[in-house]
Amino acid sequence: MPTSPQTRSTGWHHTRNTEKHTRRNDQEEPDYSVVSPIPEPKPQDVSISIIAHGPYRVHGDVAVYEDVFLHNEEQTHMEYHRQRTIETHPDEHGDVYLCRCGASSHKPFCDGTHEKIGFDGTEVADRAPYAERAELVEGPIVDLGDDQRCAYARFCHRRDGDVWNLTEEADTEELATEAVQGSWLCPTGRLESINVNNGKVYEQHFDPSIVIIDDYEEGVAGPYFVRGGIPLIGVDGHRYEDRNRYALCRSGSTQNAPFCDAMHINVQFMDDDPCWDGEIGPVDESFNDNPTL
Ligand code: FES
Repeated sequence: MPTSPQTRSTGWHHTRNTEKHTRRNDQEEPDYSVVSPIPEPKPQDVSISIIAHGPYRVHGDVAVYEDVFLHNEEQTHMEYHRQRTIETHPDEHGDVYLCRCGASSHKPFCDGTHEKIGFDGTEVADRAPYAERAELVEGPIVDLGDDQRCAYARFCHRRDGDVWNLTEEADTEELATEAVQGSWLCPTGRLESINVNNGKVYEQHFDPSIVIIDDYEEGVAGPYFVRGGIPLIGVDGHRYEDRNRYALCRSGSTQNAPFCDAMHINVQFMDDDPCWDGEIGPVDESFNDNPTL
């Protein structure tokens, strides 16, 4: 179980006091099975398969979008803005191949460059279920699960504090709601808010979809934000734990393959999204910023 805050060589430090955020000695593991973190209905006939040292093969009816995220006008939190829907042109098997190495000249699609550059896409991420990997942060109204898989997307920083402090100190419905807002918009699925009374895990419903997210303020292109419980299959056939949200690396630079670990910032990964020319789309309404406690 990770116990230290994530640091990056660019000098920033993800600020939070981990000493405060430990499980109570007398508390049992959180029961994440009370309510599935994947809202019903679960997706059918869709999957993402990892090709050895190559792309992600996306099978089935999965929409692909590109969003950019940045602060709202009041500078109180981050929000997603829809840039475009990407036409995918599946092959005769219903498959689309998305670049994983970061070197394609036809992003987000694979163009075979991974072979020329000798891409090493070995999967190294911990395959244990979230409930085994996550720490629990306790609060009076909601608890917070945290497995420390960070894309540095910063949705956890809110007007009234970061999600960890909000969770611990939120004794009003308004503050608890803000804690949930900061956790369920996290693209990696690192953070999960849990109702302390009934064990409900707060997750919003997504249709099976992949959102390419670009970090406008850092000036870099980010990972694939996979939504809606799309099964992820490893090269060896292993099916990772089904998750409503997870983020897959698309820069080829992660140290925690296949998942994003924010290395796209270190390597200044870029694509050709129109946001880099100042074109910012409308707020993406597929993200709900109003959880009901
Ligand atoms: S994975 Fe094929 S070009 Fe990147």
